Amino acid sequence: MRKGILLAGGSGTRLYPITQVVCKQLLPIYDKPMVYYPLCTLMQAGITDILLICAPSDLALFKALLHNGHQWGINIEFATQAKPEGLAQALIIADPFLAGSPCAMILGDNLFYGHQLQHILQAANEMSCATVFGYHVANPQAYGVIEFSENNHVISITEKPTEPKSHFAMPGLYFFDSHASEYAKTVTPSLRGELEIVDVINQYLELDNLNVKILSRGTAWLDTGTPDAIAEATQYIAAIEKRQGLKVSCPEEIAYSMGLIDHFQLKILAEPLLKSGYGEYLLSLLDKNFPDEIY
Ligand code: DAU
Repeated sequence: MRKGILLAGGSGTRLYPITQVVCKQLLPIYDKPMVYYPLCTLMQAGITDILLICAPSDLALFKALLHNGHQWGINIEFATQAKPEGLAQALIIADPFLAGSPCAMILGDNLFYGHQLQHILQAANEMSCATVFGYHVANPQAYGVIEFSENNHVISITEKPTEPKSHFAMPGLYFFDSHASEYAKTVTPSLRGELEIVDVINQYLELDNLNVKILSRGTAWLDTGTPDAIAEATQYIAAIEKRQGLKVSCPEEIAYSMGLIDHFQLKILAEPLLKSGYGEYLLSLLDKNFPDEIY
């Protein structure tokens, strides 16, 4: 069974003073904490055994918010990263948790939403090779960038190139086989002093064991590293939720729709949330029988 890693550490300095006492992944994106969004992405992929990695100072807050996940029919464990020394370090920290399982790692500030997303995620979960995604962006130099040959084969993946070879950025969601921690241990710090995730991914590429799935323009991938990005993501989620009357990345709803919790548990979860309207939404789900297409 594939396990999940939710990486919610980092120093958040690009958001100071907002993140001087509260970490980024606990900030709101419209009506729920940011960390709910990547957590739901893992759940939608069919992953129910998840390790959340955060800074030691934030551990108590994450535990208070997410508990052990059992209330949502999943299992959440916690580990800490003393310093943000790179995304690949998370794979080393997670090694005992993974215990030889394949994994999917998602960054705690990455939001995904869109048509057929659940299907795409579940397909990646079923593959034995590694899968990363490509997403067309206006500013590729801010990301890991994928270079393609004329016949669309992946030639290289480079972290924040000054001269990007394409407009396809690699979002912070990676599906790896059982070798990820082992490969991460061979990585040495980059010029910026981090264990780079691209140095793990390039090992898969060299072994011809990497699947790169392009996410269509019908998918939204947002990261939320700056005040503007947080404001834009909030407006985006608000617009969709108000228009549809359906919530984006609501873990209780996803757990219920996937059969991880039953209607009794959904009622119990709704009770303390009634005043904000979130609980009303959860209760409204009890009367609905959505066709599969809605997901
Ligand atoms: O958002 C997608 C991009 O994420 C990818 O395209 C890049 O290839 C990847 O390196 C990463 O780039 P960023 O510049 O966005 O990474 P950043 O250092 O901002 O970290 C992303 C998140 O991970 C952030 O919320 C903090 C957290 N983090 C980061 C590091 C370096 C940790 O929890 N621990 C860490 O050691």
